[in-house]
Amino acid sequence: MISNETIENILTRRTIREYTPEQISENELETLIKCAMWAPSARNLQPCHLRVVQSKRFLDEMNVDFKNLVGWDTPAYTRWDKNPFYHNAPTVMFIFSKGRSDMDGGIMTENIALAAKSMGLGTCIIGSIGALMNHDEGIKWKKKLDIPYDYRFLIAVAVGHGNEEPEPKERKSGQFKIVKADD
Ligand SMILES: Cc1cc2nc3c(=O)[nH]c(=O)nc-3n(C[C@H](O)[C@H](O)[C@H](O)COP(=O)(O)O)c2cc1C
Repeated sequence: MISNETIENILTRRTIREYTPEQISENELETLIKCAMWAPSARNLQPCHLRVVQSKRFLDEMNVDFKNLVGWDTPAYTRWDKNPFYHNAPTVMFIFSKGRSDMDGGIMTENIALAAKSMGLGTCIIGSIGALMNHDEGIKWKKKLDIPYDYRFLIAVAVGHGNEEPEPKERKSGQFKIVKADD
């Protein structure tokens, strides 16, 4: 197999759910935003809007609204009982768009995750907070993030200095086939 820095980063990225309190640097943040903005999009419509939150108070208040809505006793997501939705990462990047642009949002997300990995940072992609964001009760949060109420939350990415080294999660085999022209 071919190996280079990009391939190494793809193969060794892991979801991180424990972070140190240390904030990422301004340079790192600027780089992540640039990599997000340089993601390709269908017909180059560039539909995604990014909001970066670096306020623990803001995120903890959002977490209370989220867990009040979903239920504090619902073991809905990984480490639900012990972590807030954003796993205490110091930076969370929220991606919104008008209409359905899940593909574009997903591609932007992976740009962020891999760029972060290449800088030695950990990430967790977060879909769960969509339960709040895309609910009527999320309108208040969109307002705080300066996002129009009719924009849809697509996904978020928590970023920070990882404080764990999770084992790789096995990938399923047999999920691909190679079809070649018969000649
Ligand atoms: C679209 C999407 C949504 C996810 N949402 C959450 C989430 O809300 N909370 C969480 O802790 N992890 C979330 N994850 C992380 C996945 O659980 C994780 O990627 C998966 O278990 C594979 O582990 P790995 O990333 O270490 O390879 C999400 C991942 C993706 C791609």
